[in-house]
Amino acid sequence: MTTRSLLILPGDGIGPEVMVEVRKVIDWFQSARGIAFDVSEDLVGGAAYDKHGKPLADDTMAKAQAVDAVLLGAVGGPAYDNLDFSVKPERGLLRLRKEMDLYANLRPAQCFDALADFSSLKREVVAGLDILIVRELTSGIYFGEPRGIHSDDNNPENEGGRVGINTQRYTSGEIRRVARSAFELARKRGNRVCSMEKANVMESGILWREEVQWVHDNEYPDVELSHMYADNGAMQLVRRPNQFDVIVTDNLFGDVLSDAAAMLTGSLGMLPSASLGAPMANGRPKALYEPVHGSAPDIAGQGKANPIACILSFAMALRYSFDLLAEADLLERAVEKVLADGVRTADLMGPEGGTPVSTSQMGDKIVQALAVL
Ligand code: IPM
Ligand code: MG
Repeated sequence: MTTRSLLILPGDGIGPEVMVEVRKVIDWFQSARGIAFDVSEDLVGGAAYDKHGKPLADDTMAKAQAVDAVLLGAVGGPAYDNLDFSVKPERGLLRLRKEMDLYANLRPAQCFDALADFSSLKREVVAGLDILIVRELTSGIYFGEPRGIHSDDNNPENEGGRVGINTQRYTSGEIRRVARSAFELARKRGNRVCSMEKANVMESGILWREEVQWVHDNEYPDVELSHMYADNGAMQLVRRPNQFDVIVTDNLFGDVLSDAAAMLTGSLGMLPSASLGAPMANGRPKALYEPVHGSAPDIAGQGKANPIACILSFAMALRYSFDLLAEADLLERAVEKVLADGVRTADLMGPEGGTPVSTSQMGDKIVQALAVL
């Protein structure tokens, strides 16, 4: 019997409530399809800080390293805003990414036809949108040294007397491995990669461009490769997003560009992500799945959250960690059906209004759709 171990980290804000809906989906696969998961649950972010005084206990980190896949809800909230930087909820997430070495962050932005009118752009610009941002996730300015806030005593000209420092640093190896992920994924889609950096102002951008080109020329000459400055990329994303297939970019540009791409699809509440590392002994990649939306403290606990991004993150886990491709497709089709049937959470209410369903009703509808498809 295949074992499929899954560590669930609901986290903060709307994380726990959307995760309840994912549990319904997991239970359905078990009872209706006999596909069992060995599920454990633990704390991350503010919830972990409240219990342990840090946003990720060592023991939780060890569990994350041992399972086939981690599914995370969201971290952060106003209650933790004034904590010391080193114990902020986000540090828990960043520790998971770094120690599991999850260097390739896959952020698909797909526009469901039923939602094309919810985009801030015109329907004709976003209809059929299907792009994939591959964001480098374990290096760059998020982790580069030196970093910190220091006093700038020797500089009397500096009003306030302080300096804040972060370092953008990439090795060629770090660039090559994420470029390979992007080319591999492109081969299974539209076979096109656009690499984004700021080679016009940053040396690390020049290295990025050269190394991506090197991987292309030596290993993936069959994939179409183009390069773009990231600022132009941002503009092109809102001008004509359909020109892209796979975008590969660094940690910080990827953070920004993926939020912009997310909004093109109508709602941040729709978008899943997968963060993948190197294969483990069992051949499965180290993996963490999470919705792109954050903890949304303003609506937490009110049954207003859209569980679709987290449910689609589980679909990505089915596909990339468990090789359950038909099941992943089925789950995505169930989401599509529910949207086509007009079922909407509050974030998907258009100007014409209507009655939104609750978080838990949306989960129930998706499970019902699974059963009829
Ligand atoms: C994301 C988030 C995180 C990031 C935060 C919560 C640390 O914005 O996953 O995009 O900046 O990477
Ligand atoms: Mg972000």
